[in-house]
Amino acid sequence: MASIIPYLFLAVLSMATAQQRSFNLSRGSSLFPTENSSILSPSGLFAFGFFPYGDGFAVGIWFEGTPQKTVVWVAYRNDPPLSPNATIAFTSDVRLVVQELGGQEKSITDNVPASFASILDSGNFALYNSGSTVVWQSFDYPMDTILPGILLTAGNQLVSSTSESNHSMGNFRIAMQIDGNVVLYPIGSPNTGNYAYWATNTSSFGKNVKLTLDGNGRLYMLNSSGVNAKNITPGATHSGGKAYRATIDADGIFRLYSHNLSESGNWSIEWAVPGDVCGPKGICGMNGFCDIQNQQFVCICPPGFVFINQEQKDLGCNRSFTTESCDFKTNQTKYIIQEMQNTVIEQSTYAFLSPTTNEECKQACLEDCNCDAAFFQGQECMKQKLPLTFGRFTGDSSTSTFVKVGIDLGGNGFGAPNINPIKRTKVLRVDILIIGVACVAFSVILLAFSALLMRYRIWRNYQPRESLDINVPEDEIILVDWVTSCFKANEVLKLVPEVVDVQSLERMIRIGLWCVEEEPTFRPAMKKVVQMLEGTMHVPIPPCARSSVERISSSSIGIEP
Ligand SMILES: *[C@@H]1O[C@H](CO)[C@@H](O)[C@H](O)[C@H]1NC(C)=O
Ligand SMILES: *[C@@H]1O[C@H](CO)[C@@H](O)[C@H](O)[C@H]1NC(C)=O
Ligand SMILES: *[C@@H]1O[C@H](CO)[C@@H](O)[C@H](O)[C@H]1NC(C)=O
Ligand SMILES: *[C@@H]1O[C@H](CO)[C@@H](O)[C@H](O)[C@H]1NC(C)=O
Ligand SMILES: *[C@@H]1O[C@H](CO)[C@@H](O)[C@H](O)[C@H]1NC(C)=O
Ligand SMILES: *[C@@H]1O[C@H](CO)[C@@H](O)[C@H](O)[C@H]1NC(C)=O
Ligand SMILES: *[C@@H]1O[C@H](CO)[C@@H](O)[C@H](O)[C@H]1NC(C)=O
Ligand SMILES: *[C@@H]1O[C@H](CO)[C@@H](O)[C@H](O)[C@H]1NC(C)=O
Ligand SMILES: *[C@@H]1O[C@H](CO)[C@@H](O)[C@H](O)[C@H]1NC(C)=O
Ligand SMILES: *[C@@H]1O[C@H](CO)[C@@H](O)[C@H](O)[C@H]1NC(C)=O
Repeated sequence: MASIIPYLFLAVLSMATAQQRSFNLSRGSSLFPTENSSILSPSGLFAFGFFPYGDGFAVGIWFEGTPQKTVVWVAYRNDPPLSPNATIAFTSDVRLVVQELGGQEKSITDNVPASFASILDSGNFALYNSGSTVVWQSFDYPMDTILPGILLTAGNQLVSSTSESNHSMGNFRIAMQIDGNVVLYPIGSPNTGNYAYWATNTSSFGKNVKLTLDGNGRLYMLNSSGVNAKNITPGATHSGGKAYRATIDADGIFRLYSHNLSESGNWSIEWAVPGDVCGPKGICGMNGFCDIQNQQFVCICPPGFVFINQEQKDLGCNRSFTTESCDFKTNQTKYIIQEMQNTVIEQSTYAFLSPTTNEECKQACLEDCNCDAAFFQGQECMKQKLPLTFGRFTGDSSTSTFVKVGIDLGGNGFGAPNINPIKRTKVLRVDILIIGVACVAFSVILLAFSALLMRYRIWRNYQPRESLDINVPEDEIILVDWVTSCFKANEVLKLVPEVVDVQSLERMIRIGLWCVEEEPTFRPAMKKVVQMLEGTMHVPIPPCARSSVERISSSSIGIEP
């Protein structure tokens, strides 16, 4: 009872400050996005109504009593935001609808005869008939969150949101399967084991099992006779004054959160599965590989691939070169194989070689025009076609993914060695020129940095011995390492003390790092360096500065045409 007092206080406060917020929505009354926009639960912990969303509003249920106003349910989650002229009201046939002026009405609830609606202290939005019996409730349609009292019944699932602020359907789901198992899957996959990334392993429980949460933060399963069949989390022994929720988050992790209602702090994570941020399958999209850096996931494209959207790296990667079909060989593309060590992918093998060696596997993929990549493990070579799915780095050094990378002989490939025999002599000179120019270019960049560093005496902090001959190779190597590490850590501003245009600085560093790329064939041509310096050409992240550098080793086997 004591724990209700803060909520009551909150409710009174909200009522005093906002325009009188009602507890009930009855026939004849309406809600508007900008005026009386929502109704409160009796304690003030939850609210139902319009909340600001994107550039407009959405209709939903949220924790009014927590500073974050965490949203737990949204009507029409995939629809664009509503305009300020929208209303929530009962229609003459007593459905609750949301409607924009001049727009179509959208039913929030089922078509059931109702007389009023309330948001309860549990967070359940319920529609009552004239006999005060619940005829519809939001608890029957959970979105991505289980609140105490919600029963996730067999055959139903929670679907993650796109992001914390965008509630449209995201990439992951947790299914309460009809066989009694609770399983995490990527969206759009069948309920089969090879797509699962976490499970309670309770398929022996059988039909009509339910997943639920109690007020002490205990997540558990009820068997078909309504008896607790398995505790998933232990729950607190006494947890008065705490709110709990279990949410499948946008990153695919299913987390149990608690919030101490007498404190203004954030939600605390009580429990989370899987424990590994790269665990959720498909987190980096098609052809993307997941890696863990500072306990967070980072998406990486394989060599020869680029992000489909640089701003949204989890959308996956696309080939940055065009391939030729098997039946129309024009010999315009040369291929090499690059190896990504310590990686695994979901195998959809079309050809299998065993026993074989690492080199034989590479060669086999290179010579097979159908082969886009190969997964190598132990003595087994498994040929794959695109797209590569569920790619990730692991701690397991016995596995590698080989990726076929094309080099355009028309000269459009990035740093492509031109191996057309007719032009061989010319090629050699071009190669020398490339390396020479790259060195000159990078030396210039190094000099510029060194000058800046000395000017601001940061040099001294970095290297205690004062030294003026900054061009000796040793200093260069240390500096290159330092620049690389700053670039990788997104801390290029550390390199210069003043506020500079980070984007141009980063571009310069990228160009520099490309020029000192260990693998000569990947150094860009002079023309490209000029274009990149001018800013007329996009500068991709150099291989040496990609995360897990050490693990992407390039080995090239060229096929002579
Ligand atoms: C909501 O309406 C119902 C039915 O009229 C009533 O019993 C209940 O007390 C009302 N709740 C509040 C908080 O006004
Ligand atoms: C909201 O305010 C309007 C008038 O401004 C009123 O007609 C309506 O009944 C109010 N709704 C509620 C739920 O109080
Ligand atoms: C939410 O994300 C979806 C898909 O990425 C996008 O189409 C939609 O516009 C976003 N909605 C809002 C309100 O940001
Ligand atoms: C209501 O808002 C919608 C969406 O912005 C707009 O299309 C419509 O014209 C508006 N209706 C009126 C009557 O202003
Ligand atoms: C379910 O089984 C898998 C495979 O045996 C195991 O890795 C996992 O830890 C089990 N899940 C739970 C919740 O015990
Ligand atoms: C549910 O669990 C209880 C207690 O373990 C057991 O007695 C009952 O038979 C179970 N019901 C079913 C349908 O398995
Ligand atoms: C909530 O916070 C208050 C104040 O910090 C503390 O006294 C109380 O024990 C906390 N409640 C729980 C359940 O942790
Ligand atoms: C609260 O937690 C969320 C999710 O864990 C996080 O994104 C946010 O930054 C946190 N806010 C504060 C103020 O710590
Ligand atoms: C991926 O690349 C192919 C060929 O380069 C192109 O046709 C396709 O539109 C690209 N897809 C995306 C999503 O960018
Ligand atoms: C492509 O190369 C093969 C082998 O080097 C050669 O036999 C073939 O004629 C070439 N095709 C074209 C279209 O140049």
